[in-house]
Amino acid sequence: MSNNYSRRSFLKTAGSIAAVSALPVTMVELAFAAPSQNFTFAYISDSHIQHIRGTKFVNNWDRGLIRAVAEANLMTPKPDFVMFGGDLAQLGSKPELDHGMGMLSKLNAPLKAVMGEHDYYLDLGEYWSKLFGPQHYSFDHKGVHFVVLNSILTTDEWTHKRWPTAEQRMLEMAGLDNPNGSPFMVGEKQREWLKTDLANVKKDTPVVVFSHSPIQKIYKGWNFWTDDAEQVQALLAPFDQVNVVYGHVHQIQYNQIGNISFNSVMATAWPWPYPQSYAQAESLMPKLTIPMNRADPFFERDATGWQMINVNTGRVGLAYNLYNNKSRTVAFDSKLGHPVDKELQAVELEPNRTHY
Ligand SMILES: [Fe+2]
Ligand SMILES: [Fe+2]
Repeated sequence: MSNNYSRRSFLKTAGSIAAVSALPVTMVELAFAAPSQNFTFAYISDSHIQHIRGTKFVNNWDRGLIRAVAEANLMTPKPDFVMFGGDLAQLGSKPELDHGMGMLSKLNAPLKAVMGEHDYYLDLGEYWSKLFGPQHYSFDHKGVHFVVLNSILTTDEWTHKRWPTAEQRMLEMAGLDNPNGSPFMVGEKQREWLKTDLANVKKDTPVVVFSHSPIQKIYKGWNFWTDDAEQVQALLAPFDQVNVVYGHVHQIQYNQIGNISFNSVMATAWPWPYPQSYAQAESLMPKLTIPMNRADPFFERDATGWQMINVNTGRVGLAYNLYNNKSRTVAFDSKLGHPVDKELQAVELEPNRTHY
């Protein structure tokens, strides 16, 4: 695929052979129930629309979202809904959220959304909620129970007492490796809500949870982390098949904890590097073996990509199509009982390998 292909060829490519495009939308095919119940939905995440001044916004981030929306609109069959995975804005401002919503409003399918920390910490989600509605909710769709959590909350002390202005609070939380940040959490109130919500769901119903931060503890220094992850996992434990799909990390991650499969999706804005600690951690986490360096810094889509999610066994399998990089498939292995990266299992991690 050429870097600079025309709009006409983009439409042709995205509309016909999605596997050769490098667009940042996630197409999800679900086939839990009877074949007549099969359906698809799209998932777009982490667009980080960034206001410069006046009517100016960072073009690269705009283009990522515009392309994702265009591709979602070309999906055949048409997605039943589109989920936006959080971090629509960079610094939570009204112009950013409005500009992002303007692009999302071009979608030809119903839109749902997850709260990201970049959307939240300026006005604590007030304007976002006017645009998108509740910050946590659930819905049933064709045999699947979907749960959306706001996983990027933190302590009242940090949120309300630490910073002199809302702008500073937003900036402190927006930095990836800023030690002034604070660990994310779902919080007691929402966990109580989740407990009540799940009480009415049959144990053999497939459950798909959308959160912004991972509902697992990956790397605290960068807030790839949810502080009350174990308590949320305990609420999900009684169900046969649970999938947590999250954004925030802007890279490929997967894990299995008990019955819960975890999979991340790519961002439309930019990739994050892999934290060094992955090379040392003894868990399912360090299966990330390609340094996500930006080989072509002049191409804004480099090291971004998109993925097909297939949940037809009740477990998430993702086929990642990465720009200018080898495609990867991360799917649940029923014999091993956890997701496996089918392309990269043979690659041994070198001790102390740096993932930059
Ligand atoms: Fe993000
Ligand atoms: Fe985020």
